[in-house]
Amino acid sequence: MTKISAGIDLGTTNSCLAVLQGDKPVVIPNDLGEPITPSLVSIQPEGAVVGKNARRFLLTHPANTFVSIKRKMGEPYTRTVLGKEYRPESVSALILSHMKQAAQKRLNATLDEVVITVPANFNSVQRQATKDAGEIAGFNVLRVVNEPTAAALAYGHEHKLSAILVVFDLGGGTFDISVVEAGDGLYEVIHSCGDNHLGGDDFNLRILNWIVQEFQKQTGLDIRRDIPAMSLVREWAVAAKHTLTNAAEVRVKIDNLYQGKGFEAGLTRNLFEGMSRELFDRLRSVAQTVKGALSASKYRVEGPPDAQMNTGFFLDDPCDNSGNPGWRKPDGPMPVTKADHASGDPLRCPKCVRWAVSWIGRYWKGRRLRAPK
Ligand SMILES: Nc1ncnc2c1ncn2[C@@H]1O[C@H](COP(=O)(O)OP(=O)(O)OP(=O)(O)O)[C@@H](O)[C@H]1O
Ligand SMILES: [Mg+2]
Repeated sequence: MTKISAGIDLGTTNSCLAVLQGDKPVVIPNDLGEPITPSLVSIQPEGAVVGKNARRFLLTHPANTFVSIKRKMGEPYTRTVLGKEYRPESVSALILSHMKQAAQKRLNATLDEVVITVPANFNSVQRQATKDAGEIAGFNVLRVVNEPTAAALAYGHEHKLSAILVVFDLGGGTFDISVVEAGDGLYEVIHSCGDNHLGGDDFNLRILNWIVQEFQKQTGLDIRRDIPAMSLVREWAVAAKHTLTNAAEVRVKIDNLYQGKGFEAGLTRNLFEGMSRELFDRLRSVAQTVKGALSASKYRVEGPPDAQMNTGFFLDDPCDNSGNPGWRKPDGPMPVTKADHASGDPLRCPKCVRWAVSWIGRYWKGRRLRAPK
């Protein structure tokens, strides 16, 4: 068997493994033939079940099933399952080891070296815990790399870019905005800033709480202490959130949720954005910090500002609000006008998360940043 190194994005919600084939990074599908493995682990008497197959145990054996374990990395957290004590490192190691086995089988090669990504704002204890997880999984951990650097590397590599890249990474549990200078094969993180406890999970929780409250209004029943019902609601909350990415409204219909009673209600995008307002504020505040840090004395901007509205590097459309007067600003009664939208000012057009990419991307496009000599 040949020996090759792997790169693993060990995410809060999903993980992914790639190897270099020639000089091209190629994602290796897991045991189910899927490119992404949910970061779920359920401890069962016959062994650990990892990934999508662990999802059903969320309902049947929630106490045995670990979700979003990355949030606990570096913390003195333990949970005993079936008489054995698990720490965040050992649970993460089960995910890494599962991915390793599947990739080895597929590649018919030994994967004993690995590079693992971590959020840019992970501290040294969290980084060490990630490294330990890799070692418990039987890897020689070559490096722990910041996620935005990895994203910029992959993007720059493919597009042969020489540019300032803004990486806006709102994952399952962590959020980072990083500004990376890419060019001539060199990648330098100019600035990175994030919120270690902000991600899609928080948006899920808003919808989950809404369902719980609406169900209580409809039936008078409180399901908060019922683990199977809550697990079901969590699944539905995620599905509803995903649907709202492409639709203005979703109908949440859960048969037989609790004590023979079902749930049905409509959730609009506006309502969802309203309930998530505080989360959007936190996203905005990180973007403000990044902008402030870059505008401050540390870096000199070279080149003219881009006069043309540019939508950023990663997304074609910065904001789906093109001035429909029906839209309301989340934090005010005034409708967002076309002029608000065209201004690119997030405080005038805060309709969706994507503004941050647009805003920072527009600001930095065509400019170079240089550290003071
Ligand atoms: N179509 C979609 N619409 C809205 N949210 C989505 C969609 N698809 C995935 N998500 C959300 O994205 C989040 C997962 O993102 P991702 O896979 O990048 O996270 P991660 O890498 O596991 O997390 P982290 O980087 O924080 O460790 C989840 O909260 C998921 O619900
Ligand atoms: Mg991620």
